[in-house]
Amino acid sequence: MPNERLRVVAATPIPDELVAAVLAAEPRIDFVVDQSLLPPMRHPGDHAGDPEFRRSDEQQRRYEELVDSAQVLYGIPGERPSELRRTVEANPALEWVQLMPAGGGAQVRGAHLTEEQLGRIRFTTTAGVHAGPLSEFCVLGLLAGFKSLPRLEEHQRQHDWADGRWIMKRLDGSRVLLVGLGGIGSLTARKLAALGAHVSGTSRRDVAVDGVEEVIHPDALADRVGEFDGIVVSLPGTPETEGLINAAVLANAKPGAVLVNVGRGTVVDQDALVEQLRAGRIGFAALDVTTPEPLPAEHPLWDEPNVLISPHTAALSDLEDELIAKLFADNCTRYLDGRELINPVNTREFY
Ligand SMILES: NC(=O)c1ccc[n+]([C@@H]2O[C@H](COP(=O)([O-])OP(=O)(O)OC[C@H]3O[C@@H](n4cnc5c(N)ncnc54)[C@H](OP(=O)(O)O)[C@@H]3O)[C@@H](O)[C@H]2O)c1
Repeated sequence: MPNERLRVVAATPIPDELVAAVLAAEPRIDFVVDQSLLPPMRHPGDHAGDPEFRRSDEQQRRYEELVDSAQVLYGIPGERPSELRRTVEANPALEWVQLMPAGGGAQVRGAHLTEEQLGRIRFTTTAGVHAGPLSEFCVLGLLAGFKSLPRLEEHQRQHDWADGRWIMKRLDGSRVLLVGLGGIGSLTARKLAALGAHVSGTSRRDVAVDGVEEVIHPDALADRVGEFDGIVVSLPGTPETEGLINAAVLANAKPGAVLVNVGRGTVVDQDALVEQLRAGRIGFAALDVTTPEPLPAEHPLWDEPNVLISPHTAALSDLEDELIAKLFADNCTRYLDGRELINPVNTREFY
């Protein structure tokens, strides 16, 4: 029997106009938002809010009382897995948690919940919300590598017209391998195909994705990687994906191949990446994610000339909060109608 109404509590910041938009889209929810108890957002997508924000003891008590009265949580307190665990233990009526990150499975893993709790509560992520800006970063990374951006910048710094002109690679007609065909990979596939690239992708399942000419099993990566001019990684960080782009895969890459990583830093063996950048096997790498984060100031990747580092910022856009609110409203309707939710967390592999 589907629910009639839902008590939703915002544990993380959400602007008033988006609360109104969610309520307009799904009036069957009671969306409890006490702005005085939530840290102000410093920019769109600032789900943890201003770290300077402090609640008085009385405010903290009221905040926890509210959060612990939810049937549904919008975000988790402070974006901290330990706080998720606290509220799960305090609130036996909690039914569903909408996590803010696309890789929100890691928050659930970090909460170390029991099998019973994992079975009782549903968790959903924002996978797909960041696909737009991240797919643009993937195109940027490939083009920066294909058009030798570091070399151009160096000539410009030197006021050097570059006597010997050189051939630039074309994205049109190139072969690109998308490691990961979720929301990000699928949208990137369409954009790359529109630019004339021949796109292949990896999946463990038998999937058909627009713009993808061939689907390859991830087990075949080391054997097949040498066929591609570009490799784009958009995998979540799980124990299963850790080091999937390992030394063997990188050593077998096509000489000069461009690597882009927007998934999680743990997926790529970074020591092997530095080695292959120096050997020229990887011609250029555009990394929005590294391991660890922040990347330590002394890490050799910072000084590699053919590396573009983006401090995990490529996904952020002015649309993020609006897209999350829309996804959440859709999911509320699905929940109330007893339908399948969008983006359920896989609670075996936690992504
Ligand atoms: N840079 C950023 O700021 C940023 C922003 C958003 C997301 N991300 C990262 O990007 C990840 C993907 O985002 P998304 O929106 O594309 O998520 P998604 O739609 O959930 O897609 C995840 C994909 O990863 C595949 N996968 C998971 N485990 C795998 C494994 N062990 N081996 C091979 N493939 C595996 C899944 O394949 P199956 O279909 O077989 O399960 C699925 O296609 C997120 O989990 C997050 O970590 C980063």
